[in-house]
Amino acid sequence: MQKILITGGTGFIGSHTAVELIAAGYECLILDNFVNSHPAVVNRIAQITGKTPLVIEGDVCDAVGLDTLFATHTISAVIHFAGLKAVGESVREPLRYYANNVNGTMTLLLAMMKANVKTIVFSSSATVYGEPDSSPIPESAPYRAASPYGRSKAMVESMLTDLTLSDPAWRVALLRYFNPVGAHPSGTMGEDPTGTPNNLMPFVCQVASGRLPMLSIFGHDYATADGTGERDYIHVMDLSEGHLAALRYLARDDAAPLLIANLGTSRSHSVLDVVTTFSRVNDLPIPYQFVARRPGDVSAYWADASYAEHTLGWKATRSLEDMCRDSWNWQKQNPQGYRN
Ligand code: NAD
Ligand code: UFG
Repeated sequence: MQKILITGGTGFIGSHTAVELIAAGYECLILDNFVNSHPAVVNRIAQITGKTPLVIEGDVCDAVGLDTLFATHTISAVIHFAGLKAVGESVREPLRYYANNVNGTMTLLLAMMKANVKTIVFSSSATVYGEPDSSPIPESAPYRAASPYGRSKAMVESMLTDLTLSDPAWRVALLRYFNPVGAHPSGTMGEDPTGTPNNLMPFVCQVASGRLPMLSIFGHDYATADGTGERDYIHVMDLSEGHLAALRYLARDDAAPLLIANLGTSRSHSVLDVVTTFSRVNDLPIPYQFVARRPGDVSAYWADASYAEHTLGWKATRSLEDMCRDSWNWQKQNPQGYRN
């Protein structure tokens, strides 16, 4: 059985991917410092899969800890989710973001190189495209990241690309996620942001549960069909399946050393689409008001996800209805997230 190291494996996307990998017959070793997650998620993974993954509390910036980990465990590949992801926070604390996201990845790669583990799937983001010229966005669109967070992702992408050029034994997948939402259909795992959510779907869920009084829709005057911002929302279960597909691709004899793939649905939905769909499928009112645009927001963008489909044989299948229903199912069963 192949053992996969999942850094950040107790976070939102990592925990769902761990479930997917265990179901596919992989053994998972999770490394997380719990800076943005809760240890209770491990019991939920065990509940769903019937297997408890081994979890090491540790930091990807800790070179000694990583050397010990690789010396103790035979790892086939790494999926590297560990990172900080709040755009606004990255503007206020850029060095913290570069230290954690860039230096953390470099420390991880040095440890992997020493241990001769040369296969890695990296969590990148559509944020590397910034404000694109047009949508759908192909992988060939230029880097235009507009925040330290986005630039940290672009820097890591460059670092990993250089590595594959220097040594063809590396197998690297750079997966650029669009807007991950939704939750495990059991309602036992989902997104659990600390404090007031920055992102749309968790905010809508907390309005639905009465934890927050009203949604503020940022901007009603964009050049979109209904004037609100449009995004490519992707169900976290589809995203998890994308990681499994990438891992399988990298294990193929004919795999290219470097794979760069958008993970999205190739469709966009407006903020009002999300609100009305959520209300309809869950039969709940979502009070909202229109307020000024959020600084730094792009009006509309969505993926061209055809490359992932051709190369990985992967395609997102879940609808916005599924995303809204599963997000609410998680929220209503766990009103305080994993702190219940
Ligand atoms: P998350 O915050 O839920 O998960 C990240 C996990 O990494 C957390 O469990 C956190 O505790 C851990 N972590 C952070 N720094 C660490 C460190 N130095 N050492 C060990 N563990 C550390 O976020 P997520 O939504 O699951 O995102 C996972 C990855 O995907 C991140 O790299 C993020 O930047 C990227 N991404 C997320 C989105 C999104 O909207 N959720 C979009 C594009 C890309
Ligand atoms: N929005 C609101 N009200 C809110 C929150 C969001 O109207 O309370 C709107 C935004 O203006 C935007 C849409 O909902 O039009 C989506 O906003 P999110 O904050 O959910 O997501 P973003 O597209 O801004 O950014 C997310 C992640 C980034 C990541 C990016 C990748 O937060 O980390 O997707 O596409 F880089």
